[in-house]
Amino acid sequence: MKRVFSGVQPTGNIHLGNYLGALKQFVELQNDHECIYCIVDEHAITVPQDPKELRRHILDVAALYLAIGIDPKKSIIFVQSQVSGHAELGWVLCCNSYTGELSRMTQFKAKSGGKESVGTGLLTYPVLMAADILLYDTDIVPVGNDQKQHIELTRDIAIRINNKYGETFVVPDGRFMKAGARIMALDDPEQKMSKSAENIHSRISLLDEDSKIKKSIMRATTDSDGEIRFDPVNKPGVSNLLNIYSALSGKTVDEIIAGQNWRGYGDLKKELVAVTQEALTPIKQNYNEIRESEELIRILKDGAERANAIAEPVMKRVRDKFGLGLK
Ligand code: TYM
Repeated sequence: MKRVFSGVQPTGNIHLGNYLGALKQFVELQNDHECIYCIVDEHAITVPQDPKELRRHILDVAALYLAIGIDPKKSIIFVQSQVSGHAELGWVLCCNSYTGELSRMTQFKAKSGGKESVGTGLLTYPVLMAADILLYDTDIVPVGNDQKQHIELTRDIAIRINNKYGETFVVPDGRFMKAGARIMALDDPEQKMSKSAENIHSRISLLDEDSKIKKSIMRATTDSDGEIRFDPVNKPGVSNLLNIYSALSGKTVDEIIAGQNWRGYGDLKKELVAVTQEALTPIKQNYNEIRESEELIRILKDGAERANAIAEPVMKRVRDKFGLGLK
């Protein structure tokens, strides 16, 4: 069975973009792959975090993992900082990467642009991500499009080390959804939907009430020509709504448009509201049951033990290749 690894930052507001780009794949893959899903708390501290909130958000993401249908009997769910190999391998990979390639990363440029001082963690973030992936001999990494460059870097570092020290790492592939790989902000379809945008109507969080879902979709930015067709360049707003509809329903955009006699964007939006509410209702119900249960902590502790059992032999291989420690 091929091994799958992916992670989500515990920074609140897990939204439809995260779900349709990444989380939905997590559930689909677990039946015929060996899946490891991480809550990447060490990534979250590349920017300042309130310690109490961070702890809360770790459990929020864990509960969401379970609520969307990740089954802890099939998949490993754990918190990154509970397995020390991530930080250890991160350092080894830092020593085999270049500041030039890291400062070229689009996300680094976007987050550091215009700032006087930039934290080192923001620059080395993709190296820690490479460590997350390589630590488990991962074959497949299900993510959204915004992580494509980081997966490329992971591959480059793995190949570089394999060439220099002999076969050390499995070289992984990214896995991207057709419709969900890049969900755009509802208020500005030129920007991707993000956890941190100030306007709450730019995104739909997975735990949003039905009334909030309705409000955010009904006020989504479209255009003035009134024609419903998929054209991301000239009609990014309408195309984003169709894309979300497609990713949620599993129908192609053509199938969605063909079956309709909508008179305007309002009709499309109303239908999308219903489709979204229907998809998120069971997730919210499951979440509320799971979030406060003792079981959650037990699942995470058990997950960390299982993850560590896979990571430790890989770390031993790395220490041996580099001559670290004692024989
Ligand atoms: P994060 O926490 O920002 O996002 C989690 C996942 O959601 C995807 N995503 C989107 N997909 C479609 N449309 C969007 N608007 C959208 N916004 C986010 C992301 O691509 C991601 O798959 N660096 C990662 C976390 C990470 C990781 C890893 C992932 C750390 N180590 C190892 C895979 C493997 C991140 O910040 O994701």
